[in-house]
Amino acid sequence: HPPSFQMGESSGLRPANCRAKGGAPGFKVAILGAAGGIGQPLALLMKINPLVSVLHLYDVVNTPGVTADISHMDTGAVVRGFLGPQQLENALAGMDLVIIPAGVPRKPGMTRDDLFNINAGIVRTLCEGIAKSCPNAIVNLISNPVNSTVPIAAEVFKKAGTYDPKRLLGVTMLDVVRANTFVAEVLGLDPREVDVPVVGGHSGVTILPLLSQVKPPCSFTPKEIDYLTDRIQNGGTEVVEAKAGTGSATLSMAYAAVKFADACLRGLRGDSGIVECSFVASQVTELPFFASKVRLGRTGAEEIYPLGPLNEYERAGLEKAKKELATSIQKGVSFIRK
Ligand code: NAI
Repeated sequence: HPPSFQMGESSGLRPANCRAKGGAPGFKVAILGAAGGIGQPLALLMKINPLVSVLHLYDVVNTPGVTADISHMDTGAVVRGFLGPQQLENALAGMDLVIIPAGVPRKPGMTRDDLFNINAGIVRTLCEGIAKSCPNAIVNLISNPVNSTVPIAAEVFKKAGTYDPKRLLGVTMLDVVRANTFVAEVLGLDPREVDVPVVGGHSGVTILPLLSQVKPPCSFTPKEIDYLTDRIQNGGTEVVEAKAGTGSATLSMAYAAVKFADACLRGLRGDSGIVECSFVASQVTELPFFASKVRLGRTGAEEIYPLGPLNEYERAGLEKAKKELATSIQKGVSFIRK
């Protein structure tokens, strides 16, 4: 393959002035880790997204095949593939949004924190590339442990002098997607009608569903609250165990990642009232990072909403979540500062 391979642009058979101008108006999006379990269905779904005009697929393996395959879809976005570190700069140049699902996933018996040693270094390298090639892009960080990788990214950007907290968003959307599904099952509703805020972080007890704030308004028995809280916090482990060593959530994660990325793009476009949960730099608690509802706009996370009224069960959950979060955040910060 040539140093970077492009597909879906033009055959080159006719001179440029004879061709109708192809390519939809829209945003330039890069996926880093695009050949992985999440990356491939995420690339597929972003190729369908009408807000995307250019889609860059970057990985350290297998991008030629994934790019060739995706590029045959008859949707507007032009697809380009990039393979290996020497092509990272070109993959990132001019991007409006960078989505990062690069890194190893869990196997049964592992916590997300067990991934730290491998994924921390991957996230650092990729964020150094972003600081260099597209410092103004919005970053959607999926690589686990999100509670530590977002602080790592922030430190890398600070070091490079490009840090804007509004543009760095940890993706916790899958927790919301799961919460909506499980709550809808209990209530006997269509999940599309259910909205469950999930705050805190993206790991075990740091995943804090606010069942007292579910829309449409409803109430749960103590037994239902225990069941739902446990299932939402351990939904990822449910998938890891069912996949029995072959990986963690990839399909529901790709769906959640696209739901979140689409919200970011609509915000960038200037749509109003776009609100989603995300793990961001925050003053909602005493911790430097926290997941809560944020309003997405032209400059990223433009407003971070407070948690709202919590019941006693949720206040107790919040204290537990904050304790674990503080350790995970510190671990990420120290990885870069050490
Ligand atoms: P995977 O192993 O199937 O794919 C990861 C991809 O990253 C591979 O194609 C690999 O070649 C690539 N990669 C490795 N090092 C790289 C580098 N330096 N630069 C670019 N690409 C690189 O893993 P999967 O299942 O796609 O998961 C990816 C990550 O997403 C994991 O860390 C996982 O824990 C996390 N995850 C996060 C969730 C969330 O809710 N935020 C949910 C599910 C998974």
